[in-house]
Amino acid sequence: MHVSVLKKELIDCLDPQPNENFVDGTVNGGGHARLILEKTGPRGRLLGIDRTQELVIKLKRELIQEGYDQRVMLACDNFARLKEIVHENKFHPVNGLVLDLGFSSWHLEKSGRGFSFMLDQRLDMRFDQHDELDAWTIINRWSEEEIGALIRDYGQENFWRKIAANIVAERQLSSLDTTGDLVRVINKSVPDWYRHRKLHPATKTFQALRIVVNRELSNLSRVLPQIVEVLAPQGRAAIISFHELEDRMVKQFFKSEEEAGRLELITKRPIKPSEAEISKNRRARSARLRAVRKI
Ligand SMILES: C[S@@+](CC[C@H](N)C(=O)[O-])C[C@H]1O[C@@H](n2cnc3c(N)ncnc32)[C@H](O)[C@@H]1O
Repeated sequence: MHVSVLKKELIDCLDPQPNENFVDGTVNGGGHARLILEKTGPRGRLLGIDRTQELVIKLKRELIQEGYDQRVMLACDNFARLKEIVHENKFHPVNGLVLDLGFSSWHLEKSGRGFSFMLDQRLDMRFDQHDELDAWTIINRWSEEEIGALIRDYGQENFWRKIAANIVAERQLSSLDTTGDLVRVINKSVPDWYRHRKLHPATKTFQALRIVVNRELSNLSRVLPQIVEVLAPQGRAAIISFHELEDRMVKQFFKSEEEAGRLELITKRPIKPSEAEISKNRRARSARLRAVRKI
């Protein structure tokens, strides 16, 4: 079960009112979506979007059982198509929107798609199984320079050069098919002290691969201007990011829209989870919430 982050803080920023409509662009297991639905009854609607088909099917079944189906519509789609999805579903007005970026516990533990360095699975890492690019292709087909740049830029991993060189050397002997194969190469590429820290030595490389496989930064940059377009006046939007590059992109976009007089900042600084939340949910430690209101 995925534990939603910054629940109270998110609801405080979005301030959902009875009968308002909300878009959850990363609906996953519906943790945040249910909190919104509780506040927007009796007639407020929610449009939930997620790229992971299994999660959308599962959530649809659960929401029917919970009696929410009349107020919820779900789309298995990429939030980078936000404007079209909203129009296709005739979902107007949009009084609020949330994006809680990245992946979930389901992807790590249940998907079988190699998101976790703790399990030995085929290198895949795609949210959407229709996408062509997977982690296997990057690791076994991309050049050493491309792999190195990916690990450096999206993982901010200091040992990127050595890891990339060893990946290319190892795959000449035999293809690297599983997460176990990749972890073995990473372990070989980093110094002893790096292997004995709290953070697993494969964390940054795996994060970089997932971001690139799923084009996470380009999806975010595509959706940001659409949020301003779809929101009704006084509509609120909140974005939770887990990566410095994502948070920087959100911050700069919100700031430039504030200067242009289209948005006002609800959060002057990013909201971070409390120590109490982090102690219960380690995944929350890098979460940053920023929220705006449309003028
Ligand atoms: C951190 S989880 C969201 C958790 C959810 N807010 C909750 O409380 O249960 C992120 C979700 O976003 C989805 N996702 C990631 N990128 C996406 C994209 N571009 N379009 C739609 N869904 C996306 C993933 O499949 C994943 O289910």
